[in-house]
Amino acid sequence: MKGKFYGIGVGPGDPELITLKAIRILGTVDVVISPESAPSKKSSALEIAGRYVHGDAELISLSFPMTHDREGRERLCEAHASRIHGMLEKGKKVAFLTLGDPMLYSTYSYVLKYLLTMGDAVESVPGITSFCAIANKMNEPLAQAGETVGIIPMSENGTHLPHFMDEFDTLVVMKPSSNGPLLAQAIEDRGQQQNFFIVSQCGTGEEEVSRDLGTLREGKVHYLSTVIIKRRGFAHE
Ligand SMILES: C[S@@+](CC[C@H](N)C(=O)[O-])C[C@H]1O[C@@H](n2cnc3c(N)ncnc32)[C@H](O)[C@@H]1O
Repeated sequence: MKGKFYGIGVGPGDPELITLKAIRILGTVDVVISPESAPSKKSSALEIAGRYVHGDAELISLSFPMTHDREGRERLCEAHASRIHGMLEKGKKVAFLTLGDPMLYSTYSYVLKYLLTMGDAVESVPGITSFCAIANKMNEPLAQAGETVGIIPMSENGTHLPHFMDEFDTLVVMKPSSNGPLLAQAIEDRGQQQNFFIVSQCGTGEEEVSRDLGTLREGKVHYLSTVIIKRRGFAHE
């Protein structure tokens, strides 16, 4: 019998923010894959979910260097998917860990499409997204009544930023470390200095909350940071 591939959302940092389903699956799989952006960097996803992994499970870290080379990334994902396919052909159950939710800016989603194409059995298990955990941490609703919410990744040139800042009542800016100074400038240009916060490493022992534009302006933002801007002000102020 062929195996099964699981994409497991492990939440953004707090090990208690993971579903019962994810914990059950991690207790039964043969192989657990954690993506790593660099060999020296520890996998945040494994740090969160490692405690739920079955003691006999094989742990494999797969390298996914951050790159703008789209074709190179596709080749790498296809190669990793072929390796996983080989495990599934041998009947193994394989879990791929994802920080937050598997369907939001995840490495898993790139590997997933190749395994689906190869006809493998796949189950994706939702996780709590970073921005939902952050909104809850701050006791700040993302949206009420008819308010709109936008989610964007900060890019180096940031050309899309002004449009989205003007368009949405709440704007979630992911990966702000890509260009903190540009984001700080856009916030200042729109007089939104009092209407944003930045949360880094939410749910971990290193969690930091800041409402200081200087943090962004100086570009000293941790990769695991998210900015939320409430154009009309915070709900409870
Ligand atoms: C590759 S995306 C992964 C998103 C993830 N799948 C999710 O559902 O939130 C990485 C970005 O997610 C956000 N992020 C992930 N974990 C975070 C955390 N613990 N605290 C703050 N932001 C986090 C940051 O914006 C980071 O740059």
